Amino acid sequence: MTDQTATPETVYETDALIAEDIDAYLDAHQNKTMLRFITCGSVDDGKSTLIGRLLYDSKMIFEDQLAALEDDSKKVGTQGQEIDFALLVDGLAAEREQGITIDVAYRFFATEKRKFIVADCPGHEQYTRNMVTGASTADLAVILIDARKGVLVQTRRHSFLCKQLGIRNIVLAVNKMDLVDYDQSTFEHIVADYRSFASEIGIDDFTAIPMSGLAGDNITSPSEATAWYDGPTLIDHLETVEVASAINVAKPFRMPVQWVNRPNLDFRGFSGLISSGTIAPGDAVRSLPSGKTSTVKSIVTWEGELEEAQAGQSVTVTLEDEIDCSRGDVLAAADTPPETSDQFETTLVWMDDEEMTPGRAYWLKLGTQNVSVTVQAPKYEINVNTMEHLAAKTLELNSIGVCEITTDKPVVFEAYGDNRALGGFILIDKITNRTVAAGMLHFSLRRAQNVHWQATDITREAHANLKNQAPRVLWFTGLSGSGKSTIANEVEKRLNLMNRHTFLLDGDNVRHGLNKDLGFTDTDRIENIRRIGEVAKLMADAGLVVLTAFISPFRAERRMVRDMLPEGEFIEVFVDTPLEVAEKRDVKGLYKKARAGDLKNFTGIDSPYEEPENAEIRVNTVEMTAEEAATYIVDQIMPLR
Ligand code: ADX
Repeated sequence: MTDQTATPETVYETDALIAEDIDAYLDAHQNKTMLRFITCGSVDDGKSTLIGRLLYDSKMIFEDQLAALEDDSKKVGTQGQEIDFALLVDGLAAEREQGITIDVAYRFFATEKRKFIVADCPGHEQYTRNMVTGASTADLAVILIDARKGVLVQTRRHSFLCKQLGIRNIVLAVNKMDLVDYDQSTFEHIVADYRSFASEIGIDDFTAIPMSGLAGDNITSPSEATAWYDGPTLIDHLETVEVASAINVAKPFRMPVQWVNRPNLDFRGFSGLISSGTIAPGDAVRSLPSGKTSTVKSIVTWEGELEEAQAGQSVTVTLEDEIDCSRGDVLAAADTPPETSDQFETTLVWMDDEEMTPGRAYWLKLGTQNVSVTVQAPKYEINVNTMEHLAAKTLELNSIGVCEITTDKPVVFEAYGDNRALGGFILIDKITNRTVAAGMLHFSLRRAQNVHWQATDITREAHANLKNQAPRVLWFTGLSGSGKSTIANEVEKRLNLMNRHTFLLDGDNVRHGLNKDLGFTDTDRIENIRRIGEVAKLMADAGLVVLTAFISPFRAERRMVRDMLPEGEFIEVFVDTPLEVAEKRDVKGLYKKARAGDLKNFTGIDSPYEEPENAEIRVNTVEMTAEEAATYIVDQIMPLR
């Protein structure tokens, strides 16, 4: 059943259903389309009042009330109307005062035609991340304007963010019309002003409604006070605007695979939420990134098999052939598959208190795909109030920038503007597990398509076999002066005597050549380790046992190098020397300089060192001499096969 076709009779029938047959009513309720929208504005604009009015004037059904309805059908028909409007608004305002709405507050309500989830986001700039969270799933945005104030900086910011997050339907709610005597020219002036700004940021279409949340004008019924206005009321518009899932049905079929269902050998089904298009048995599909094709055998749901399924439905698809497809892959229409790439231009909204670290590896979660990604320093940051492009080295909390990213594995994607499900992602810090950013993929960088991995005939195994050993990277980490270089040197001497092919990369030495352009800021240290990691990997590919001696102060980068190598090849050696001991030795006199303030960003003094948590080998240089430590390490890594 679709809303748009509901006649007054069918509406009446729904009303009657509530009273007579609660089961049938709930069923009808189930089949209503759902509109997700976001309200943008601040308390001063009358946002709480407006939301209160919407909930109050529409026949609202809160989720908990819905549950109560199921329990006790006698209460039916009284919902909503019993709640005092003023109380409701007070409640919303109180929540805000207590700061509860710092996180996005979602409210559920329903009218006879449609169900709604409204994300109520605070309007201030410091809540940009909350707004982005709410907007990322919304079909529509209600942008509130105080008729007395007109288009403000925050109106621009909200509109820009909504546009960036792919919201297609914008409602310009010109509120508090009662305070400007319902003056038509005031309204028109604001609309014209907004239109010229909106077109600059690519919003070509919006619906402007003059209203008063307090007086109830044009919220659920047309207001006589604005006889000059012949557009829809807010609720009319919310009830009839096309929802995203309806738009997505017309696009090619895509379903990110959430899990593979294999209860027995005869059944293998791919489950997921269809993000766009339709699918039916007999359709040709392609699994990505593998590119293998097959034909749909059946579409299974809890309610049985389906003849067809479409965007917005969760289904299990079985195929005619046993093709390679697992969680994180995408099933798509065979003849119009999405692209696959590992380098992208993106817009990032930074959401963590800790600023972005260019070059660091984060987890990227895009639908059901999970990959490691490194983020370049921003090409530019965007001032969210003026839309100016600014030069930036990093992104801080609530800032937005355009950045290139590189994933360690190919990602199946579509531009965010075409498909939010395959273009929207989040970044997760690998150590803290916090969501640090939300991002939108725009396009893949052409170099990703043009630079191919050259398959060579002499494999890494062939290289290693000739040397009669298995490659390893012995990664020494510890404070400056902890003894990394000394011990690594001792280890290499021992391995050399045992006819092992080795190479030692040492911090001070590499910083004279390959990395002579790098200093000791966090960003430079990360780049230092990234390059060393790549070099160590190439040397391991050549079959060598590589020893590296770098402070490598951050867990994230040591993990990044570990992840670059085959399982078991990376051996972290923690040279555990307490700061006091390293400082007392002060072989190079650097601690003294650092303490005197003549050397900035010195590890352990004014730059952090993150100790390994699970190093394969740990040596305590207070208890052991360098020779003893070296013997111990060699014992641990033998026989190198
Ligand atoms: S890392 O942090 O990027 O891994 P790396 O091991 O390459 O550091 O270089 C550390 C060496 O550089 C130290 O042993 C010391 O000799 C020298 N050095 C110079 N300035 C600093 C500094 N600010 N912090 C740490 N080491 C420094």
